[in-house]
Amino acid sequence: MTDSLTVRDNRTGTEYDVPIVDGTIKAADLGKIRTDDETPGLAVYDPGFVNTASCRSAVTYIDGDKGILEYRGYPIEQLAEGSNFLEVAYLLVNGTLPTKEEYEAWVHEITYHTFVHENVKTFMEGFRYDAHPMGMLMASVGALSTFYPEAADIKDPENRHMQIIRLIAKMPTLGAWAFRHAQGKPFVYPDNDLSYTANFLSMLFKMSEQRYEPDERLVKALDVLFILHADHEQNCSTNAVRSVGSSQVDPYSAVAAGIGALYGPLHGGANEAVLRSLRRIGSKDNIPDFIKGVKDGNERLMGFGHRVYKNYDPRARIIKKAAEDVFEVTGTENPLLEIALELEKIALEDEYFVKRKLYPNVDFYSGLIYEAFQFPPEMFTVLFAIGRTPGWLAQWLELVQDPEQKIARPKQIYTGDRTLDFTPADKRWA
Ligand SMILES: CC(C)(COP(=O)(O)OP(=O)(O)OC[C@H]1O[C@@H](n2cnc3c(N)ncnc32)[C@H](O)[C@@H]1OP(=O)(O)O)[C@@H](O)C(=O)NCCC(=O)NCCS
Repeated sequence: MTDSLTVRDNRTGTEYDVPIVDGTIKAADLGKIRTDDETPGLAVYDPGFVNTASCRSAVTYIDGDKGILEYRGYPIEQLAEGSNFLEVAYLLVNGTLPTKEEYEAWVHEITYHTFVHENVKTFMEGFRYDAHPMGMLMASVGALSTFYPEAADIKDPENRHMQIIRLIAKMPTLGAWAFRHAQGKPFVYPDNDLSYTANFLSMLFKMSEQRYEPDERLVKALDVLFILHADHEQNCSTNAVRSVGSSQVDPYSAVAAGIGALYGPLHGGANEAVLRSLRRIGSKDNIPDFIKGVKDGNERLMGFGHRVYKNYDPRARIIKKAAEDVFEVTGTENPLLEIALELEKIALEDEYFVKRKLYPNVDFYSGLIYEAFQFPPEMFTVLFAIGRTPGWLAQWLELVQDPEQKIARPKQIYTGDRTLDFTPADKRWA
């Protein structure tokens, strides 16, 4: 077997041998296929990069057909069960699990960079009272680049490390403050005696008490959610981070671009849509009618199906367990949970869903959990962004160290006019 593709250009009759490496061909090799020296070489047309590998990456492995998700080779199930978010962040960014000393130094550094410059506070106070927290997060992360201008030196490994620590550390502070702003409540400073996730909950919910000590089960559940969202290879926001980062801008600006991508309803907003449809169904009795509507093509069952997973999304299984733990603490008699469980049961047995390989995805239960924490829907994507930060940074780090990477600059197929004659406005309008 030869690892190559023989391409015959029927326009010219010329045959080309295109090497196949790692299951891909180089788009540049197709560029050599041309009719003459004047016309451009062959290109691929792939809106949304549906079948285009944009990089080599050793961060996250997904096998959608088998329902496998691994960070740096470790199955997500094992990490969610036995690790914690900061250790997973270390793994993603550095590529290996930390030794005890490395772990302690990492946690120490992140813990002591949770504070932000006081001017960031003033900056955030300047937003309108009803500002969307995701817009506030995106703007304030972008603004951090002005507080750390040295971050522009992305060639220096120590400098890169410092900005990575700062970003992971400050993200919960900014996210929590965006939440408090919308509620008209004073900002709460970080409590560095608490764990990463417990401190986040303290900055969100602390009022007049001396010390906010969240229930450990809630801390664990949120920590697991952060782990589940920490990376997902070349999705829209990661691609945004890489694309913007390829201009060699500082990581704050690149991550702000990722937050912008995540803000969009097609990426980070599905769990909110799940809640909306569960609410609309209203009771278990209405499920059969709803399912019929879905099967008739009137609407989709939100939280089901995935572009990559054609099997049970491994994260959905873990989230279901986290949801049970959270509801045990909050005691929420949530009728929506009952509807969700029943919907899942029916859909997993129904031929329409089975045939199309439609399984629950990560968003099916996450919205219910966030609601039990009393987060408003606008906060859901902020939580996603906090969890995704180590993944964005791991991918950014890989990008800036990859000698094969170039500034992102896709081609286009031009469909507009050519060589029109311009008449100045005074003559055109005369
Ligand atoms: C995630 C999603 C966009 C992936 O879509 P995709 O891989 O492009 O799959 P397609 O849209 O081509 O759908 C394939 C088939 O399954 C059906 N389908 C896909 N998702 C469905 C859903 N959630 N409910 C009902 N039918 C669905 C489509 O109608 C289509 O059926 P057809 O072959 O009879 O036309 C899609 O499954 C979806 O819209 N899910 C709901 C939204 C959601 O939960 N998004 C979060 C993703 S993490």
